[in-house]
This record gives sequence, structure tokens and C-alpha cells, in this order.
Amino acid sequence: MTKKSENFQEGIHTPNFWDEYLNKQICATVMTDHSREKESLNGLWRYAIDQYDSCLRNKWFAEKTHDEDGRAFPPDCSFDNWEVMPIPCCWNIFDEKLFLYEGSIAYTRKFSYENRGEKRVFIKFGGANYRTMIFMNKTYMGMHKGGSTPFYVDVTDVLQTENRLLVVVNNTRRPENVPMDNTDWFNYGGIYRDVELLRLPEAFIRSISVGLEPGSDYKKIYAEVKTEGAPKGTATLKIPELNISAEIEINDHSGKITLPVNPELWSVENPKLYEVTVEFNNDVITEKIGFREVRVEGRDILLNGKSIFLKGVSCHEESLLNGRSLTEEEIRENYALAKEMGCNFMRLAHYPHSEAAARIADEVGILLWEEIPVYWAIQFDNPDTYADAENQLTELITRDINRASVIIWSVGNENADSDARLSFMSRLADKTRELDSTRLVSAACLSDTAILQINDRLADKIDVIGINEYYGWYEPDFTKLPKIFNNSNPQKPVIISEFGADAKAGHYGTKDDMFSENFQLDVYEKQIDMLSKIDYVKGMTPWIFYDFRCPRRSHYLQNYYNLKGLLSADKKHKKLAFFELKKFYDKK
Ligand code: GCU
Repeated sequence: MTKKSENFQEGIHTPNFWDEYLNKQICATVMTDHSREKESLNGLWRYAIDQYDSCLRNKWFAEKTHDEDGRAFPPDCSFDNWEVMPIPCCWNIFDEKLFLYEGSIAYTRKFSYENRGEKRVFIKFGGANYRTMIFMNKTYMGMHKGGSTPFYVDVTDVLQTENRLLVVVNNTRRPENVPMDNTDWFNYGGIYRDVELLRLPEAFIRSISVGLEPGSDYKKIYAEVKTEGAPKGTATLKIPELNISAEIEINDHSGKITLPVNPELWSVENPKLYEVTVEFNNDVITEKIGFREVRVEGRDILLNGKSIFLKGVSCHEESLLNGRSLTEEEIRENYALAKEMGCNFMRLAHYPHSEAAARIADEVGILLWEEIPVYWAIQFDNPDTYADAENQLTELITRDINRASVIIWSVGNENADSDARLSFMSRLADKTRELDSTRLVSAACLSDTAILQINDRLADKIDVIGINEYYGWYEPDFTKLPKIFNNSNPQKPVIISEFGADAKAGHYGTKDDMFSENFQLDVYEKQIDMLSKIDYVKGMTPWIFYDFRCPRRSHYLQNYYNLKGLLSADKKHKKLAFFELKKFYDKK
């Protein structure tokens, strides 16, 4: 170890300053907590645009204002005199100066805390993109990686009566991230979902998972409980409407029972939810749960034993007004419009949408495909990248494990077939089944355009094969599409997870005028006519529900939007193809 010269200054001479932060990660600590009373930490937080990461380099969080001899340092930050930003929000939407900003923003707020007898306290972040470093009362608590899943910070040991929370969020796109630095969507940044404080007893319920026992002929349910703070004990499961009150033995922090029961099944037409309560010591969790079974039989997808065609559409988590921070009203509007178009299914692309998305889908009755952003050219041979992907998958599945609407977990989108990719995605598929054996595993794959066939090697590892294809748009020769399907003989269901074409809303012309609604309509007519004849195609989620922001799209008509929406970005204009898809779905 070479002796450091006496003029070394950490804040300006440390090139790899990220390392100490990366070494303390907050992973997959998701809890079942919807019914828990939580205190909101939303509101006006103070912030600074920290383009050079001065906060992390100079450890602003330590709030060191004097040297050892009591001499004052000149401060380069002033937490309580910074500007304010309403949290949650995407900074890109909050301030047009920050629209295209990529880098770090340091946020801070103070809050008082008074113990009310609880033994554990966590701060829950619903989502922040992409790296989030959390500091509480001058202590580094850890970093969360991943821009779309919740995480919990255990602040039990650092809480005081008056507290300062300091959070640095960095949304820089990086090749080693999940997704990597090149995607087809807008890179929003910030603390864009709720921040809440959670008070818990010494022994508490970390998670519950309750559902219809697969293969039980709809006559059994399972209930699994995971606890913390007490390895042994007895939990009680109560479902009043089914006259259920049953004990669950807890050993080594978990317990599981199956019970004979005949629930009214959840379906799109009848989204029946039951109030399910689990008690353990004096901790209580209540969830609204729908009982349904989804499985594959040969080339069929069966919901509650009946073959179903998934009449879907893909959708980004974005609104014109709020970026990625959708309101509950905007989510409900999306589902209402999807149902108006004849949908029973939606692909929430390409990353986990908010917790409210699946909760509301349970209520209104729409089936969901949820996905982690293993998108395009991920660093498939990087173990840290795999750990990031698996952590996001675990956080998503743990979060939505009780959501009847979720029937498919997708482990990725449009990845080129390679040995490293096959190994990476196969591990994710196996991990998905390990976490949840009750739902289907899929991925949006590419067909082999050389031999015109569906032959992605990943197909052996998934239950439903998603296929993205753009014949009529990126692939002008439409005659190849029927060849692909006629050359293929998949022994499992296929969902066309993407097809489509750009169309400027309100721009009309002939079916040969690119970017006209008529051109897009022609592509939909041909695609639907072709796909409706393939007996192993059991669903489709055309790309995409409504136009969305995309920095890669600079054609003058696109103006940095991807215009493949069936609706305009404000969802006020239905393009001609909207009605064509509706016609097909209404007939199905
Ligand atoms: C790809 C990708 C989408 C993208 C779309 C397009 O298939 O999965 O994320 O937006 O094509 O090019 O419009």
C-alpha cells in the first residue's frame, strides 16, 4: 500500500467514490403491508441538483461543519435553505430545467418521531429510479438498485426524536444496469412513488401468501406466513365470508397450511375478492384476495379450467401530466379504456408498474403480464447484473404475490439469443418458479428471421412463448409472417407480445402513407387477419396502448414520442386501429 501524500483530499482525489456505497445494498426486503397503518413522508422535500455527486464524494450527510480544533468549514450545501420539490414526483416533470437531466439529485427532509411502543421501524420507498442512497441522522443506511420496485430501510437503531433523512437518487443509465443504457422509453428520475414510515412490533408478519391450491379442483386454498422477530408461534388465518378461522404453526419463521374450501372464483367477469386476515402475536395483516387458477395445458391457457384467449394491449407506466408517477385515477382510466377496447388482459411493460396497478386490476377484473426490465442487450455475463435482475424479480413477485390479476411473470424482452443470455434468463425463469409456482413464466422473444421460425432456445424454460414481431413496419415484407407461423410447431401457447406501427394521431392518408392512421390501420388489419388463424396463438398485446415519450424518436412527426399508440399520448384521441382491434376482440 503506497503511503498517501499528506495533501490527499478524499472529496476531490477519490476516483472510485461509488464503491463504498455500492458495498452496502438494500435487497428484496419487501413486506405484505397494504393494510398496515403507515405514516406518509410524502410532501415538500428540499433538494439540490448534484451533477458531480458532491454529496457522496464530500459526505454531506455527515454534516461536518468544523474541524477537530473547532474551526468552521465553508459549507457547499445548505439542506434547509435548498429549493423544495413535492415528493413523490419525477424531477423531469416537476421542473423543465430537469426534463432531460440524468445524474444525482440530493433530497432531504426532517421529521419528528415519538416511539409508541413499537420495536422496529422501517421507511418504505415505493420506487425510485435508479440508484437510491439513504442516509438517516448522518448514518449511511445503504443503497437500493433498480428503478421500479419497492424497498424498506430498517431505521430502528438510528431514529431520534428529531430526524434528518437524506436521499440521493441517481438515474444515470449504465450498461451494467437492468435495463442497460439503451431503451425505448424515457428515463424519468427521482423518488417517484410514496415514501412511508412503518412501525412494527418485535415479532411481526413479514409476508403472507394466500391463494387457490393449483390442481385442487378449486377446492383447496393455501396460506403461507413468514414472520420476523419470533421463530416459533401460532398464526391465525381468518376469511370470515368463507367461515375460515385456522391456525398456522410457525417454525423457523414460517408456516403453511392448505384448507378445504369452495370459494367463489375470481375472474375478469366476476372479480370476486375476499377479505383475508392473518394474525400473529399482536400483529395483524388484512388483504383482499381473489381465488383463481391459471395454468397451461398443451397449447391452451386455462383460467379456472376454461380455455381463455388473452385479448390484451401493452402499456408503459406513463402519463402526460405525471410521467411515471401515475395517479390512481390515471390507472383506473387506463383499465376502463382497455375494457372499452374489449381487453381482458394488459402487458405492463417493460418494468414493474406501481403496487396500485395490480391492486386495482384485482378490483376491476383485468388480467396482467408483469415484467422486469431485462431488456435488449443486458450484460448477461456480469454477475452483478444478474444479482440486480434477480433482486428486482424477487421484489416484484414478493410485492404482488397475492394479486389474482397477475397471471404471467415475464423475465425479459427482445434479448438476442446467446449462451450467456440463455443461462441468465433460464436462471431467472427457475427463480420465478421457486418464488411462485402458481403463475406462468414468459418472456417477449424474437423469432428467427433467418430461417423464419419460432425457435428461441429460451422457449423450453418458459410456460408461454411471447413473440414480438413488426411485420408491416420494421419488417416491410409481410409475406414472411405466415411463413414463420407455418414453419413453427410450438408445443405450448404463444402470445404475440408486440406488433404495431407508428401513426400520428389525426394524421390521415392512404394505407401506404407511413405515420398515417390509415397505414397503422392496414397493419392491424393484416396482423389480425393473419394471427387469428394460428391456433397456437392464445393472446396478443399489440404495441402499444397510447403514445409515449421516447428520446430515440426524432422524426419530425414523432417529436421524441413513440407513436405506436392506439390512443394519443393524452388518451383523448382513438386512432382508426383502436376500433379495428376492438372489432376483433368484441367478436372473440
Ligand atoms: C420493441 C420494444 C419496445 C419498443 C418497440 C418499438 O419491440 O420491445 O419497447 O418501443 O419495439 O420499436 O416501438
